[in-house]
Amino acid sequence: MKLDVPRFTERFGSVSLHGVQRVYELDSGHKNKNTKTESEVIRSIDDEIISKIEAEMAIVIPIKGERLKLLEGVLSGIPHDCLTIIVSNSPREPIDRYKLEKQAFEQFNRFTEKKSVIIHQKDPGLAKALEAVDYPDLFDSEGKIRNGKGEGMFIGMLLSKMMGKKYVGFVDSDNYVPGAVNEYTKIFSSGIALSSTPYTMVRVSWIYKPKISESGVRFSKLGRVSEMTNQFLNLMISYYTGFETEVIRTGNSGEHCMSVQLAELLTYSSGFSIEPYEIVNLLEQFGGITPPEHKDTMEKGVEVMQIETRNPHFHEEKGDLHIKEMFSQGWGSIFHSKLCHPELREKLKAELVSRGILDKVKEPPQLPKMRPFIDIDILKFEKILKEQTNSLTIFE
Ligand code: GDP
Ligand code: CO
Repeated sequence: MKLDVPRFTERFGSVSLHGVQRVYELDSGHKNKNTKTESEVIRSIDDEIISKIEAEMAIVIPIKGERLKLLEGVLSGIPHDCLTIIVSNSPREPIDRYKLEKQAFEQFNRFTEKKSVIIHQKDPGLAKALEAVDYPDLFDSEGKIRNGKGEGMFIGMLLSKMMGKKYVGFVDSDNYVPGAVNEYTKIFSSGIALSSTPYTMVRVSWIYKPKISESGVRFSKLGRVSEMTNQFLNLMISYYTGFETEVIRTGNSGEHCMSVQLAELLTYSSGFSIEPYEIVNLLEQFGGITPPEHKDTMEKGVEVMQIETRNPHFHEEKGDLHIKEMFSQGWGSIFHSKLCHPELREKLKAELVSRGILDKVKEPPQLPKMRPFIDIDILKFEKILKEQTNSLTIFE
C-alpha cells in the first residue's frame, strides 16, 4: 500500500493525533521494486511487511441479526492470515440466528482452511468466566452480559488477547463490499507499519458514504451527524488547548484497529458510544491532564492515525431511530467526560434537544463503562470459558 505521511499532528500530552492520510495505491508492489518512487512524504508498505502484521492480527466482527449474505461477503474480504473473531448478539429464538451464522462460518472455514473463532455474547459460560476473573463491568443488573456493540467489541478484544494476538482490528458485519473490507485491513497493517510506538490506533476515514436514490448514486462525504461528532471532539480539544482544530475526522469510525498493548489500557463506553469515547479516553488517560499511571506509555507515546479509504462505504441503512440512538450515546459519552468544557456541554445539549433526542431539562444518559482489561487473568479466563461455554467454537 502506498500512502502519504501525516501532514500535521496535534499533540496532547503523550498522544499524537495525526491528520488524515491518503492512500495512493492499494497495492504498491513487491519489496524493493519501487525504491525510486520512495520519498519523504509518501511511504510504501510492501506485501511482506503487511503479511507479517496480518499474521499477528485478529479481526473482530460484531454482529447482531445481519443478513447472512452480508456476513459471508465480509468474511471473504479478510486476509487469510488474520484470525477472524465473530462476536454475535443475534437472537437465538424463535429462529436460532446464531446457529445459522455458525453454520455459514463453519462452511466458509472448511473451504478456506482459515483460523477463526465464534462466540455468542449471551453465552452463560462467558459470563461465568468473567465472574471468575472478577470483571463485572459487562453485566446488567441480573448478572447477564449486556446488549451493545461496545460490549461485543470488548469480548472480541479479550479473545484476541487470549489467542495471543498482538493487534486487534474491527470490521462491521453489514458491509456490502468485500473489497472495501479488504482495504480496511490493509489500512490497519499499513498504519501499524508506519507507527513508531507500540501504543497505536489506526482509524479508517471513509472517502464517500454514497446515498442511493431513484435519481442515481450520490457520492456524499460523511453524514451530517458524523460530522457533528467530529466537531464536538475537536471542540473538546480546542477548549483545552485554546487553539481550534479540525484534526479529528473519524469519531464514529467502526473500522479501526489497535495494538493489544494499547487496547488493554483503555476504558470503554457501552454500545454505540465506544468509538468516539476511545478518543475521549485516550486524552483523559494520556493527554497529560492527570498524572501518568502507565509510565511506559507516557514515555513511548500513543499514536492515532486516520487513513482515508479509496473504496466508498456501502452498508445496511438502519433508519432514523438507530441514528438517533447512536448519536445520543456517542455525544453523551463526550458530555460526561471530565474533559468536556461547560460551554461544550451546553452546545451538545442544545444539539440533542433541537434534534428531538433529548428533553430540555435532562442530560444525555451516562452509559456504563468497561474498565481496562490489562489486569484480567487471561489464562484463568480461558480455562473457565473453555470449561463452561455453550457457544465458543475455535476453528484451527
Ligand atoms: P452503524 O453502521 O454504525 O450505523 O451501526 P450498525 O447497526 O451497522 O452496527 C455496527 C455493527 O455492530 C454491525 O455489524 C452490527 O451487526 C453490530 N452490532 C450492533 N449491535 C450489536 C450488539 O449488541 N452486539 C454485537 N456483538 N454486535 C452488534
Ligand atoms: Co452499519
